[in-house]
Amino acid sequence: MSGLTPDPSESVDSDASIPTDATPPAVIVLAAGGGTRMKSARSKLLHEVAGHTLLSYALAAATEIGPDEVVVVVGHQRDQVQAHLAEIAPHVRTAVQEQQLGTGHAVQCGLAALADLPALPNEVVVTYGDVPMLTSETLADLLADHRAQRAAVTVLTAVVADPTGYGRVVRDADGRVARIVEHRDADDEIRAITEINSGIYVFDSAVLSAGLGRLTSDNDQGELYLTDVLGYARSTGGSVAAHLIEDAWQTEGVNDRVQLSAMNTEMNRRILHGWMRAGVTILDLASTWVHSSVDLAPDVTLLPGTSLEGATSIGAGATIGPEVTLKDVEVGEGATVIRTHAELSVIGAGAEVGPYARLRPGTRLGGQGKIGTFVETKNARIADGAKVPHQTYVGDAEIGRDANIGAGVIFANYDGVTKSTTVVGDYSFVGSNSVLNAPVTIDSGAYVAAGSVITGDVGPGDLGVARGRQRNVPGWVLRKRAGTKTAAAAQKALDAAAAAESGGGPTGEEAERR
Ligand code: UD1
Ligand code: CA
Repeated sequence: MSGLTPDPSESVDSDASIPTDATPPAVIVLAAGGGTRMKSARSKLLHEVAGHTLLSYALAAATEIGPDEVVVVVGHQRDQVQAHLAEIAPHVRTAVQEQQLGTGHAVQCGLAALADLPALPNEVVVTYGDVPMLTSETLADLLADHRAQRAAVTVLTAVVADPTGYGRVVRDADGRVARIVEHRDADDEIRAITEINSGIYVFDSAVLSAGLGRLTSDNDQGELYLTDVLGYARSTGGSVAAHLIEDAWQTEGVNDRVQLSAMNTEMNRRILHGWMRAGVTILDLASTWVHSSVDLAPDVTLLPGTSLEGATSIGAGATIGPEVTLKDVEVGEGATVIRTHAELSVIGAGAEVGPYARLRPGTRLGGQGKIGTFVETKNARIADGAKVPHQTYVGDAEIGRDANIGAGVIFANYDGVTKSTTVVGDYSFVGSNSVLNAPVTIDSGAYVAAGSVITGDVGPGDLGVARGRQRNVPGWVLRKRAGTKTAAAAQKALDAAAAAESGGGPTGEEAERR
């Protein structure tokens, strides 16, 4: 899941490594809160940033530091959250917090889910499920700092322009953390502090257990505050350290859709910057969206209006856009994709797609192949060098190498009950405006005459013709359309032909034109 870590060039810290003799911590991810301001039938944690749920980022960051156990504390909309967890992180435990009595209570619930362990790990890391920008590097740094400082608790903090609503970090004269005071419980002097509590911590597990046992709800919200464990640690002689990070985005939660949008924009910016530093040219950052799970090679060019989603990968030197959406699409080196919507497809090296192409799942275009303008494909293998250039529907097909499909061909794959496959062999030509009525095989080296409705196989080297024979009705226009400009033009042409016949012959100029 390393693709989920945005902009590695901005966040790598070589001090991040954890001493190898240390035992792995447990991680508790708090995710029981309501998310009412999202005004959504969907749990807040399942809303997405750069194509992945908020919760998936929290779990990726937690899992990447190599914990022994991960516990997610769930509450509101927990059916949805648990179903999602079963999909993305079946290895984690969940703890149910029936009533949201505060962050301290939530961590109590999390610890209860570890009660079957012979012993708690030495350290417990606490994070939130709705803080998607937090990286595993930051968590590893926090843990390393906690160990280096031999602290009882280490809290991740940031300095922000507007600290309204956050808990403030109150420091001693010696710079150690004295306590954390919630905004609602703070006086003006404390509210003036701009260093905030991110809500992400490493605890010595014995201090945590003891501290949680002594919490009271003696505060403005009547909740059990996890932050009070810090004061407890101090009161029992432990030291409380702060790990201050410059990148405040990593501490930001998502509470409403305005913040969700801001988070998406910032995450996308980081992803695009990361790819530009890795050798990708991007013309317009505002209209280019790249999910965190996408992989791009050097010398890829992304033109405006490009959206790359899911497990999409783009090979070196390929040009994508303008106006392209690719979801779970593999694009080969040097390919060109213009004004196209594609899903679950493979586009070969050096191939050309679009403008105005629609690739539905199961399309596999070979190297140097072409899917052109107003072409729709589905479950179609189109071999190397084969071309489907204009206004065609290719459903359930196998097209051989260097075969050429004329304009307006329909691969009629569905008879209303079953779907069947059409095969076109290597180097074959299918004439324009033909219908290939599946199941049918056009063998290698065969031709289909334009305008044919093919219902039977065409053998190797054969020409399949399946259409009405042409019949002309002489004089029809003069009889049936007398008095029209068309009839006049016909009469003029007939007169000229008659004059040419009766001796005079065409003028030199006319002869040349013929
Ligand atoms: C908390 C901190 C505050 C910090 C802020 C950072 C406390 C008392 N305060 O504020 O110092 O600046 O986070 O965002 O800890 N949750 C539960 N169960 C609960 C309550 C909360 O699971 O009973 C979860 C929420 O889903 C959320 C996280 O804990 O993911 C924080 O809850 P929230 O109410 O947003 O934080 P505050 O208490 O306002
Ligand atoms: Ca919050």
